Amino acid sequence: MIDFAYLDADKENYVNYWEELVPRMRPGGVIAADNTLFHGRVLDPHATGSTAGIQAFNERVHADDRVEAVLLTVADGLTLARRRP
Ligand SMILES: C[S@@+](CC[C@H](N)C(=O)[O-])C[C@H]1O[C@@H](n2cnc3c(N)ncnc32)[C@H](O)[C@@H]1O
Repeated sequence: MIDFAYLDADKENYVNYWEELVPRMRPGGVIAADNTLFHGRVLDPHATGSTAGIQAFNERVHADDRVEAVLLTVADGLTLARRRP
């Protein structure tokens, strides 16, 4: 079981990394995901590529009942998600 994970690789795969990580997190374990505001481009309704990857990730995290999550508006956006018991 994993205590802490940090996501900062290719954005198109953030959701895939998420789905692999969450079941492996111990209860109370934390995932930190960087660049979740993506310089504001997450608001682009016509986004593709990396930006679309971040958008899909943010929606997935928001809808995921396995975690409590917050998106910190520092720098380029940092999401912290804690695995529920
Ligand atoms: C922004 S850097 C993050 C660096 C890292 N957080 C560190 O402190 O060293 C992104 C890193 O993700 C790696 N990366 C990109 N796509 C990847 C993938 N599909 N699988 C694994 N690593 C990948 C890149 O090679 C690069 O080292």
